[in-house]
Amino acid sequence: MKPFKEAVFYQVWPRSFYDTNHDGIGDLKGIIEKLDYIKSLNVDYIWISPFYKSPQDDYGYDVSDYYSIQSEYGTMEDFKQLVAFAKEREIGIICDLVANHTSTHHPWFQEALRNPQSDKRDYYFFRPQREGYPNNWISIFGGSAWTAVNDQDYALTLFTPTQADLNWDNPKVREEIKNIMSFWLDMGIAGFRLDVFNTISKIEGLISKDPHKKGFQFADDYILNRPLGQTYLKDILRSLKHKYDFITIGEGMLIDQASAQVMCGSADDQLDMIIHFDLHMLGCGPLGKFDFRKLYYYTNKDFKHVLRSWNHAAQDKGFHIASTMSNHDQPRAVSRFGDDTKYRFESAKALIAINFFNVGSPFIYQGEEIAMKNMDLPFEEWKDFEAKNTYKALQSMMKVPSWIAMKIVKKMSRDHARGVMQWNNQKYAGFSDINPWFKTNDDYEAINVQIQDNDPHSVLNYTRKLSHIYHDYPVFTQGYWSESEVNHPQMIVMKRENNTHCLTLIVNFSKKKTEYKKENDLGELILNNYDSPNTNNIYRPYECHLYLKTLK
Ligand code: GLC
Ligand code: CA
Repeated sequence: MKPFKEAVFYQVWPRSFYDTNHDGIGDLKGIIEKLDYIKSLNVDYIWISPFYKSPQDDYGYDVSDYYSIQSEYGTMEDFKQLVAFAKEREIGIICDLVANHTSTHHPWFQEALRNPQSDKRDYYFFRPQREGYPNNWISIFGGSAWTAVNDQDYALTLFTPTQADLNWDNPKVREEIKNIMSFWLDMGIAGFRLDVFNTISKIEGLISKDPHKKGFQFADDYILNRPLGQTYLKDILRSLKHKYDFITIGEGMLIDQASAQVMCGSADDQLDMIIHFDLHMLGCGPLGKFDFRKLYYYTNKDFKHVLRSWNHAAQDKGFHIASTMSNHDQPRAVSRFGDDTKYRFESAKALIAINFFNVGSPFIYQGEEIAMKNMDLPFEEWKDFEAKNTYKALQSMMKVPSWIAMKIVKKMSRDHARGVMQWNNQKYAGFSDINPWFKTNDDYEAINVQIQDNDPHSVLNYTRKLSHIYHDYPVFTQGYWSESEVNHPQMIVMKRENNTHCLTLIVNFSKKKTEYKKENDLGELILNNYDSPNTNNIYRPYECHLYLKTLK
């Protein structure tokens, strides 16, 4: 398998990828069927969002059995085949490890409820109901972080009310997690993406955050990047790395660079790669993703600043970024950062090139390679708990008028990225032959894999080509990263350079035509997102060029 630092990753959200057994729900066999397609993108690893047994309140991030497959996704046999068939194609499978919480349907939780004397009681955080909410923490998805789970008890649920936080201070819990990891590693997987790994430990005593403030408060450093959590995770990684060779990708929820540096690096007990949130939080106010006061306004300079700051940090401090422009929790990349109307293909291509250029490994989220855009969903068709709950909470807790709440949530809803993959122009986009579990985006007849496969200028073929170049020239992954034109309001100009080659990426990251005189002698133009490049120094909207120069 490719070293992770030189690898391209593809994220599959299985429910919407491909349905093979005609129930309108994507499945593991669907991933198997599409392995050659994924391979055609020159992908080295597939990260698959959770497919374990789960009531699906958070679409699999609420696990009720870590050792079995949700039946609508298939069987353990299917999974073993997937690993084997992927291996034949030199593709590694990365599983999602959801270890901050379990579903409240998990037998541990059920036993803890049934029998307060059980040792499972201390797997979670239970508090008596008699004194009201145990603290003022807000749930990441809105409302109190505490859920009344019977007549007497609250349980800490930082995400949906049916995701109960595990108590990592309990060594038995840590042992369970290690066993789960070993189980999947024994099946030959290539590694894990660790779901919200930096929230696993909470402040001692679970004390209220800023108690003088009214209302629920984001617990911030009381739940994020806690030193004990870092130690717990490092212990597990160290002990498993003795036995297994595997990749770890940590989802660092709102992580800062100092914590990224502690947790990610080349030591045996560190994560290999880190997903940060700063790009996705652009234009969000201090209240986070659904801050109704900022309405997602940001400038090009802000965008460049985030990239630059993380690229420098990664390069100077020796960690590696899992670089994403979108994922199953974010709007579609082209809708969020590009222009999903007039310059849809141009901006999608520019974004993919920028993503590949970061100091890290690029991740392509299913559909990004064909420029899938946000869904336009009427409220009745919303599926995402976070979106639905935030819509309510904004109105009830923040007194935001409903039309503004709607506007805000629609902008960032996770549903955008969860529509079915657009394979062809047949009914239901070729995803399934029956009405899928979720709406098919209206534009599938024009935007789909089949059409783009046959078009040499498509986003799909551009992505394939870029991915080839990425693998062909070590400078792409090993070269020193630098940026010029840091203050330019439109242009992004970045380089990677080693002893033998220099790559230069030039992007007009805007809808405006922009005059820009590039440096002379950048070498050969090896990738470009218009049919032919400009010859007059006027960069068209989102025009993007990649040059390669051989130094020796
Ligand atoms: C991560 C997942 C998200 C999930 C949350 C709770 O952020 O990516 O989908 O809802 O963790 O598990
Ligand atoms: Ca199915």
